[in-house]
Amino acid sequence: MRDESHLLPNGRVLRYTFRERLMHWLAGLSYVYLLITGLAFWSPWLYGLSAITGGPTISRVLHPWAGLIFTLAVVWMDRIWSAQMRSTPRDREWWHAVKHYIRNEDDQVPPEDRFNPGQKLLFWGFFWCGIVLFLTGLILWVPNWIPWSLRFLRLIAVIVHPIAALLTIALFIIHVYMGTAVERGAFGSIVRGDVSRKWAARYHRAWYDQTAARDPAAKE
Ligand code: HEM
Repeated sequence: MRDESHLLPNGRVLRYTFRERLMHWLAGLSYVYLLITGLAFWSPWLYGLSAITGGPTISRVLHPWAGLIFTLAVVWMDRIWSAQMRSTPRDREWWHAVKHYIRNEDDQVPPEDRFNPGQKLLFWGFFWCGIVLFLTGLILWVPNWIPWSLRFLRLIAVIVHPIAALLTIALFIIHVYMGTAVERGAFGSIVRGDVSRKWAARYHRAWYDQTAARDPAAKE
């Protein structure tokens, strides 16, 4: 889908539309529920966590439904963002300069699109893990639907479901750390939608230039 970002009259830039924010938080909140309940099922040491998600029985009933909501949100995200998450020639330059990005040497980082290559990697990681979690989760949810001749699928699901979940946990920790602690102003953008022009130019220069070019009169 097309990037609907635009300059705002108050000197700010709309980074995420309401629909994008709604979609993101549907994924985010359902994921947090899945994370807490999933960890509680995973280890006896973490079983106590189910006390905050409605108790063990309710958690077991709601976990697959939250999984369905998360899957729908991820598919919705794919429809809205996948075109903007494709790799571009600019991304290769960014990977070559990634050490500068890590050291916060922003002046030496090549201009970034609306999403930098790290964010693109995160998106595809969540997308493919989301698909694997859905398929394996479905097998674990309704094992009686699996024909006896395909019973090996249940064994695969028991092993692959937690592996995919652990991968998303690694992505989730990096994502939340980057979005809340590293890029000051990013969290506000996924809550209220907008960022300052300075933020846009600092973290996503190519995107900011394209957005401003669509509205030359408003560029400072
Ligand atoms: C619940 C805790 C979460 C927080 C605090 C959070 C925070 C954020 C923030 C601040 C942004 C904007 C980043 C920017 O524009 O630079 C963002 C974007 C995004 N979020 Fe989340 N998020 C959370 C959960 C999730 C989950 C579970 C997913 C998985 C589907 C996800 C996927 C994305 C994607 C794909 C983007 C756009 C690209 C990117 O910034 O990585 N988020 N999130």
